Amino acid sequence: GMTLVIAMDGPSGTGKSTVARRLAESLGARYLDTGAMYRAATVWVLDREVALDDPAAIAAATDDLPLAMGCDPLGEQVELDGESVTRRIREDDVTAAVSAVSAVPALREQLVAYQRAVAEDDETPIVVEGRDIGTVVFPDAPLKVYLTASAEARAGRRHKQNVELGLPSDYDAVLASVQRRDGLDSTRKVSPLRPADDAVIVDSSDLTLEETVAAVAELAARLE
Ligand code: C5P
Repeated sequence: GMTLVIAMDGPSGTGKSTVARRLAESLGARYLDTGAMYRAATVWVLDREVALDDPAAIAAATDDLPLAMGCDPLGEQVELDGESVTRRIREDDVTAAVSAVSAVPALREQLVAYQRAVAEDDETPIVVEGRDIGTVVFPDAPLKVYLTASAEARAGRRHKQNVELGLPSDYDAVLASVQRRDGLDSTRKVSPLRPADDAVIVDSSDLTLEETVAAVAELAARLE
């Protein structure tokens, strides 16, 4: 298709979602959160009590997933079978199970096809956020941003957020969990997390959110 796609990949805890949304908003572009799609598939699997260590059962249960994604950068909408799961997908049990579900190849093929269809369905540019957008989903995207930060910086931000929300939080435990998810996402066989050869790497370890948004907006401005 002719739709302009900006790919934004990287691990969690870099501010990636906020940066991707702000960028889309400032460009008048659409926004697609592919992590939310894998999370919605995980909700479907959990609701059906499918064994997480049984990839064939996960593939069978998610065959033809009734998923509908909104593309408004200002308000996320995720629906499963006509019901909103926008809040549900952020709960802890979903976060804990999503790495297992997102490793199932048949499910990935289905969601990648959906991601391409969404982009091509409309000529409005789109910022697509995930782990494999620049490497697998849109290898020809004219701008690929790989947003990263040290595990310590990411764990520090998550810990601070927890404390601000009044949630119990232990920095070392948060760091261990960040490292565990990085390990699972970057060593898996299908679509491991890695920058595309032609991605621009932006390290947000020592940048504020505003500075990170500005750095990415500057890259997008060079597209015109
Ligand atoms: O971005 P978010 O943290 O919500 O993504 C949740 C999980 O979904 C990731 O940890 C990863 O396992 C999976 N994911 C993926 N491919 C993508 C986006 C997310 O495998 N394109």
